Amino acid sequence: LPLRDGPRNITQEVLDVLDKKSSFETGAEFPDVPQVEIKAALDRLGSRDMVQYDTNDTELVFLTDEARTICAEGSPEFKVWEAVRRKGKITIKDLPSEVGAESAKVGQGNAFRNKWIKKDGEYLVLVAQEVEDKARGVLQQIQATKALHDAKTLADLKKRKLVTVGKSITYTVRKGPKFATEVPVEVTDLTAEMIADGSWQSANFKPYNFKALGAAQNAGALHPLNKVRAEFRNIFFNQGFVEMPTSCYVDTGFWNFDALYVPQQHPARDVQDTFFISDPPTADRPRDNPAAEEAMIAMEASARKLYETPEKPKPKPRDYQQYWDDVRAVHEDGKFGSIGYRYKWSEDECLRLVLRTHTTAVSAWCLHRLAEDPRPARYFSIDRVFRNETVDATHLAEFHQVEGVIADFGLTLGGLMRFLEDFFGKLGLKDLRFKPAYNPYTEPSMEIFGYHLGLKKWVEIGNSGMFRPEMLEPMGLPKDLRVYGFGLSLERPTMIRYGVSNIRDLLGHKVDLGFVENNAAVRLDKV
Ligand code: PHE
Repeated sequence: LPLRDGPRNITQEVLDVLDKKSSFETGAEFPDVPQVEIKAALDRLGSRDMVQYDTNDTELVFLTDEARTICAEGSPEFKVWEAVRRKGKITIKDLPSEVGAESAKVGQGNAFRNKWIKKDGEYLVLVAQEVEDKARGVLQQIQATKALHDAKTLADLKKRKLVTVGKSITYTVRKGPKFATEVPVEVTDLTAEMIADGSWQSANFKPYNFKALGAAQNAGALHPLNKVRAEFRNIFFNQGFVEMPTSCYVDTGFWNFDALYVPQQHPARDVQDTFFISDPPTADRPRDNPAAEEAMIAMEASARKLYETPEKPKPKPRDYQQYWDDVRAVHEDGKFGSIGYRYKWSEDECLRLVLRTHTTAVSAWCLHRLAEDPRPARYFSIDRVFRNETVDATHLAEFHQVEGVIADFGLTLGGLMRFLEDFFGKLGLKDLRFKPAYNPYTEPSMEIFGYHLGLKKWVEIGNSGMFRPEMLEPMGLPKDLRVYGFGLSLERPTMIRYGVSNIRDLLGHKVDLGFVENNAAVRLDKV
């Protein structure tokens, strides 16, 4: 092929060849051009009906190094026969020095079998005066044609590692109905001028390529935590839960701790465990919160639409002084049948602002609100919480909690266990085990362990319990309305589901955006 400046224009070269010949085979005309390039050129011309082509799939046979040596020097059996002929007779012992160790070993047997030589005592002597080296002949033929049509011999040569087999695709090309020696200039846009001057009638429009793939869309992607969150929300919504308004990360000690009957000396309220806000450091006493109230009413209304329960009248204003006094009383001296913690309860401590350490702060707010119209209710939330913890591979100072709360008359601990079995079963966690635990706001409390079908091991998955009367009764909830709740981190099931072992690969500045973009949606029950 002539040398050219710049890359070859295969499309034009194909037209040039066809101009001289009515058809050709690409293997012969373009032996050095990669098949994909030929194919691209032919498709370009084919889509314009300038050429037509058929595809030829051929099997190619290639010689190994050993086979090439045989082509050049002869087969081992031939070398053995030749050595015997040259010497007249030769001892078996001396053969390797004449023909090489490898040929002596392989060639002797074949030469005997072909009846070219025979044994005479310790000597090898000639039988055939003239022989035909068939093996060499076959290989030479393959070398010349890259083909072998005898399947049995081919299999035999492959087994002896003398040949390998490959595929070659070539095309037989002929002129198409719109053949020309050049690709005509193609119009890609129909313009107003073309319509006005009539040139559209003779214009050569570029054909659409309906097989072209669209350009990759640099679209946004949901973070794995958001995908798992969506899955959890579905599970909750499917069971009639209403989502709690969790948009305020900053809350008072009151809702985060005191309303939950967490004593003010509790280690969780230490700066080691909780982030306190310095500016402003405190909030007002609890009072009506129109923003949260509105959000909650809207969510309950949409849930009502979903489950078709009748609309509830707007609850009457709450008596916060009574609630405040009762929280103080139940901490300091005890009330509602409880003996209390018996310490001096500090209003200042209670009003300090904190980054909420759990979403149970929001559950407490929703439950005190429920007291205005006590009824069965199911609430859930999935949102961020903050703990002043040492950061390591599995802990960050902020994470997400999934929390569910169920209020109803006559609830029992067994009911909670049954509910949790159902709930976690939907996440692919079976055979739950419950371990007695302690929370200031629940009694009894249970840690939840589950057997993970994917990981094939027991994993701690959450915390749960029946909320204490010391928490519910100051809110004004009736004695026979029981409430149980449970919480777990969103990160844990996400890490399990996506096989992430370091939390910093999931959250924060070191996260690989490719990981976020390429991960599939989840079904937590499908592992
Ligand atoms: N607040 C608990 C935690 O942070 C979870 C929990 C919620 C426990 C509700 C019992 C009831 O682990």
